[in-house]
Amino acid sequence: MKYLNTILFCFLQIILFSQQHTLPNLRFTYAEYEPFIDMKTMEIHHTKHHQGYVTNLNKAIAGTPFENKPLSKVLLNISNASDAIRNNAGGHYNHTLFWEILTPKTSSQPTELLQKAIEETFGKLDSLKTKMHQACMSRFGSGWAWLIVNEEGKLQVTSTTNQDNPLMDLTMERGIPILGIDVWEHAYYLKHQNKRNDYIYAIWSILDWDVISQKYEEALKDPILASIKSDNWPELKTFHKVMSNTFHAAEKKDFKPIIDRHQELMVKAYLLKNSEIPVLNLNDRPKLIKSLTKLEKQTKELDEFITLNKKVTNELIMKKLIAIHDSFHEVIGLCKEE
Ligand SMILES: [Fe+2]
Repeated sequence: MKYLNTILFCFLQIILFSQQHTLPNLRFTYAEYEPFIDMKTMEIHHTKHHQGYVTNLNKAIAGTPFENKPLSKVLLNISNASDAIRNNAGGHYNHTLFWEILTPKTSSQPTELLQKAIEETFGKLDSLKTKMHQACMSRFGSGWAWLIVNEEGKLQVTSTTNQDNPLMDLTMERGIPILGIDVWEHAYYLKHQNKRNDYIYAIWSILDWDVISQKYEEALKDPILASIKSDNWPELKTFHKVMSNTFHAAEKKDFKPIIDRHQELMVKAYLLKNSEIPVLNLNDRPKLIKSLTKLEKQTKELDEFITLNKKVTNELIMKKLIAIHDSFHEVIGLCKEE
């Protein structure tokens, strides 16, 4: 019985692990999207393409720090992920949003709040439609056009390549997408062949403005907006990348990365200390500067220690690296302070 329980437990773990991300159901049958999107395209798009992103995402994150993390967290930190995670996490998120905002029942309108925001930014709904259309048509090759709530809480039309999206920390124009149009050929080729233009008109006819309006209101309150805004500090991200690659390797007893990159770590800390601090809602700027100064000093000491000291041991390097890592987290903590 004891062995049976163990086997059952392991089996359940395998199932849970292998299904961390799953394919969402559509709100309507494939046939109901006709004549705007043909049934075959919907079926292949959902069961083959989207399923493929889900399956490959689960494979790509296995054994990485992105395993068991919410999809939004993966996207917000995508600069530290592999290309396989980037493509498939984006593919999963983008298609999930796409299915949510489509309805064959074509009578919805933006709510008063969204309508007001559209008028403020674009003048009228037709101007937004023209802007989205241009974004779809000018996207060379495969990609997406987006209506986002940007870090200022304003509406903005953007577009991204391949399966990238505006949540990703590698994207230039960032924000929370509330409407996304898939302009990969797999989304329209069977019915419209090369006529992307006809496909975009068809999609515009079946947008669910009730859902898009709800997403707009949720996005305005979403803490992700503040997180995107405070993430706009390239020197911090560059330092983090070197810190992460060297420190985590050393934790696993691999000291080659820090032996090779201690000078780079020192230079990145210097650049960070001397960069402009763009962080918002920061009450304690002097404390942050103090921590950055400490970080710069500690990385300089580590560099001298490894370069000049003949009696360098892994234990001593680790001790100094832990102190640097602590200071770095002090900086991160201060950035988040309200
Ligand atoms: Fe697609």
